[in-house]
Amino acid sequence: MIVQRMRRVWAGIRRRWDFFRAYYLLCHADRITYLRFLGVRIGERCSIYTDPHNFGTEPWLVELGDDVTVGQGVLFITHDGTSRLFRKHLQGASPFGNRFGTIRIRDNCFIGNNAILLPDIEIGPDSAVGAGSVVTRSVPPRTIVAGNPARPIRSLDAYIENYTRRMVPIEATDREALRRELTVKLWGEER
Ligand SMILES: CC(C)(COP(=O)(O)OP(=O)(O)OC[C@H]1O[C@@H](n2cnc3c(N)ncnc32)[C@H](O)[C@@H]1OP(=O)(O)O)[C@@H](O)C(=O)NCCC(=O)NCCS
Repeated sequence: MIVQRMRRVWAGIRRRWDFFRAYYLLCHADRITYLRFLGVRIGERCSIYTDPHNFGTEPWLVELGDDVTVGQGVLFITHDGTSRLFRKHLQGASPFGNRFGTIRIRDNCFIGNNAILLPDIEIGPDSAVGAGSVVTRSVPPRTIVAGNPARPIRSLDAYIENYTRRMVPIEATDREALRRELTVKLWGEER
């Protein structure tokens, strides 16, 4: 009797475990589905190249609008851990810390590789963050920021003008052709 019951309980645990494992694998296959499952609000047509772990311990404090690109290695930090130095002696302090902030990226923004985004900021719409920048303050609409701390370096309109002037003409329509074209143009030989 007891053995049968134990077997039934065990079978139930196995079924549940298989379900969670399948869900986990499915979500990891599609990063955006997984991040939404973790609580990140994500709009339409976003491209996210950073690892889901980089959304930190409070992914539900991060919100991305439509048409947002997040480069590789971008880090979202939604709390200040510095209170670990003193919070066990501080009256009324939460074991989780007491300083949290949201990170909101509005529509049509680009966050360059390895940028670090700190709490309490809003970026955009139509703004970009340079590679490796540390964003400590909100970024106004249509603005390009870079550096540590990130500062505006130009408006989006000035960036487009500059980009258009420096554009390398490209004829390739697939990656193989692009490789040939760019290695010849930039190295002087096909590689
Ligand atoms: C920020 C960025 C968009 C600016 O491009 P740009 O307007 O063409 O910038 P420029 O190269 O003309 O540089 C303008 C100034 O900003 C500085 N700057 C540019 N990018 C910077 C960066 N990421 N961090 C710090 N400073 C930067 C330059 O040193 C230059 O400073 P100076 O005027 O004192 O010489 C670009 O540099 C960048 O970081 N792009 C993201 C790349 C990336 O992450 N790609 C991933 C592929 S998905």
